[in-house]
Amino acid sequence: MNSGDIVRLGGLKDVGTFQAHLRALDLKIPCDSRIVAGAQSPLRAPLVRGPFKIGNRIAVQPMEGWDATRDGAPSENTFRRWKKFGRSGGKLVWGGEAVAVCHEGRANPNQLLACPATRDRLAELRAVLRQEHIQTTGSDDGLLVGLQLTHSGRYCRPNEHSRPEPRILYHHPLLDRRLNLPPDYPLLADGEIESIIEDFHRAALMAWQLGFDFVDIKHCHGYLGHEFLSAHTRRGRYGGTFEGRTRFLREVVQGIRSLAPGFHIGVRLLAIDPVPFHRDPSPGCNGKSNRGVAEPYNDLLPYRWGFGVKQMDPTDTDLGEPERFLSLLEQLGILLVNITAGSPYYNPHIQRPALYPPSDGYLPPEDPLVGVARQMAATRDLKRRFPNLLVMGSAYTYLQDFLPYVAQAAVREGLVDFVGLGRMVLTYPEFLWDASEGNEIQRKRVCRTFSDCTTAPRNGLPSGCYPLDDYYKGSDWGNELNVLKRGRI
Ligand SMILES: Cc1cc2nc3c(=O)[nH]c(=O)nc-3n(C[C@H](O)[C@H](O)[C@H](O)COP(=O)(O)O)c2cc1C
Ligand code: SF4
Repeated sequence: MNSGDIVRLGGLKDVGTFQAHLRALDLKIPCDSRIVAGAQSPLRAPLVRGPFKIGNRIAVQPMEGWDATRDGAPSENTFRRWKKFGRSGGKLVWGGEAVAVCHEGRANPNQLLACPATRDRLAELRAVLRQEHIQTTGSDDGLLVGLQLTHSGRYCRPNEHSRPEPRILYHHPLLDRRLNLPPDYPLLADGEIESIIEDFHRAALMAWQLGFDFVDIKHCHGYLGHEFLSAHTRRGRYGGTFEGRTRFLREVVQGIRSLAPGFHIGVRLLAIDPVPFHRDPSPGCNGKSNRGVAEPYNDLLPYRWGFGVKQMDPTDTDLGEPERFLSLLEQLGILLVNITAGSPYYNPHIQRPALYPPSDGYLPPEDPLVGVARQMAATRDLKRRFPNLLVMGSAYTYLQDFLPYVAQAAVREGLVDFVGLGRMVLTYPEFLWDASEGNEIQRKRVCRTFSDCTTAPRNGLPSGCYPLDDYYKGSDWGNELNVLKRGRI
């Protein structure tokens, strides 16, 4: 597929045309024909279950900005972003952004860090979010704000943007090669894992004391929590069997429960982790193809480095283990789950479907709507199987102008409990609020998936919507990004 073959959603004249387009692609994405505004809107229905009363179905995904200070405190940019989270009107703010539990576990030198030196500023983040939220919705009733806790594992770069310092659980035949890791590169020892688990306990206790409503024990996107799930080849207590691969989660949860009784816990789960993709090395019609293809894996079957995929075809979904994982969450009394898929590093088209690739990506190997449908289908199947869990879905931004129609249908049909906004929240945070309020939609603010918010941090710049947000457009960073794009992409 060429990106030229992909129909641009911004050019479709109305929702009927979009529905016809979905039919032509044979995609089962639910889509209502009109938006219901006001109290009758499915997106405005509160959800009460167990100890939770969440005021509506609009949710905000964690979105980090690579813009904290070197010591891990939020900067003015970070505050700006958290204000947007609040302004969205979403009553479920899932984590704000990835916050490292220790310095060595930071994904970049500008990632937020949960430690005594940053606690007051982290508390302020929550406070400004709440204030903005009240301005949009009139009250903070039913607002649930979490903090996403993470260790970046294989993707640690705590000291220099240009210096990876991976902390790995096992040798991955494809990802080790990408990171130039030699076969004797040391694995995290069980004792080091125990110390990281204690860091999670400390960070969660701090979040509880600061008034956050829950913590997310991040299990996605290639970072450490996720790497445990695919640690089939790791020996010892934290790998191998399902029990071994989920021991990290159970020990984190156990410690939090004893330090902060009653504090809520959520998990952002990567339900589908297919084989890594790269730019097609074979020449295309013009002698060069930038299209994404799966890395060759035939010599690696059965494939033992994925999760939620078939071992004999690691490009295809198999929800057996994710279902087992959700069953475990239920047993642990964890109700809050956020389903996601893929990795921003090695198969971004799965994780954040986009028309335009980031600088280190590749042209879409499929219509990005297929990626949206894949995540929606997995989320729907898991929700059906676990009706008592509070399930949030991801990867809706590519739907652009039609996002509200799809979001409303998905919630109305019970395919998902909360619709999470990722990239859209950087450009047009109030999109679903405006739609469900009956306000005029501001089309100029709709994210068109240009991917600059990914390209910028890949090149050591803060993330943000460079094309549509004036704050970045005219800035020194914006000029730097333009120079970089002209030279490299
Ligand atoms: C700039 C940027 C930062 C992100 N930061 C995080 C993060 O801190 N934690 C996380 O779990 N996901 C993060 N994501 C992934 C998003 O939460 C979301 O899953 C993804 O963008 C797909 O949703 P969308 O289609 O609504 O953008 C990030 C994505 C982008 C583009
Ligand atoms: S840079 Fe802006 S328009 Fe592009 S994907 Fe990110 S949020 Fe969307």
